[in-house]
Amino acid sequence: MGNVKSAYRNLGKNSFYDGMITSTTFLGSLVNRAVWRMNKDENKEYLRKALSPITDDFSGKLLEVPVGTGILTMPLYKKLKQADIVCLDYSAEMMSRAEHRANEMNIENIKFIQGDVGKLPFGNENFDTVLSLNGFHAFPDKDAAYSQTYRVLKKGGTLCGCFAVVGESKRTDWFLTKLYTKMVYCTPPFETKESLEKRLNSMYSEVHIETVKSMACFRCIK
Ligand SMILES: C[S@@+](CC[C@H](N)C(=O)[O-])C[C@H]1O[C@@H](n2cnc3c(N)ncnc32)[C@H](O)[C@@H]1O
Repeated sequence: MGNVKSAYRNLGKNSFYDGMITSTTFLGSLVNRAVWRMNKDENKEYLRKALSPITDDFSGKLLEVPVGTGILTMPLYKKLKQADIVCLDYSAEMMSRAEHRANEMNIENIKFIQGDVGKLPFGNENFDTVLSLNGFHAFPDKDAAYSQTYRVLKKGGTLCGCFAVVGESKRTDWFLTKLYTKMVYCTPPFETKESLEKRLNSMYSEVHIETVKSMACFRCIK
């Protein structure tokens, strides 16, 4: 767990991460092409799919875990005037960038909590939506992350987001299972699209999964 924290502490210190996750810098686009085999449009497409259950008129309680630097979600949250938003991340460095963004954008209906997805500090059935972008391939204790995100979701609520799965591309699998695992940006075991489908179907009443290259975008109803 400490290793994951220190890996993301370093990423949280500069803007490289933001350029990569949005594919908006030269180096970021290069990494996306090399590792994820994605061009800018594919990058946008997977994020659009992952965020599509959260519409601009969303009202209710939303948990985002992990929020990271908030580059992907603060522009959306600016529009969600009726929402009650809680963002959680293990890395203070990553999350301080998100908090700074929220302040700059004058987003007031938002709270930031440093914590572990495996021990969410909320009661049962507390949120209408739980959003998790690029989190499950990083979380060290996957079972705890799946069960905690399920626990805090209201009955009829939505879990949505995306993360990297193996089995779609040999090249991406190599980066995930070798390099990124060594750098502790990711932690095994990794899901395949099929194993994820099976796992989510065993928990949720409705499950929809689509992949864009190695990125699995999911939305589930509890
Ligand atoms: C790849 S980043 C994704 C951040 C953001 N959702 C995005 O898509 O840009 C993974 C994040 O997971 C966080 N993380 C790793 N393990 C965690 C845990 N056990 N609990 C909460 N956050 C964790 C890291 O600190 C990091 O910010």
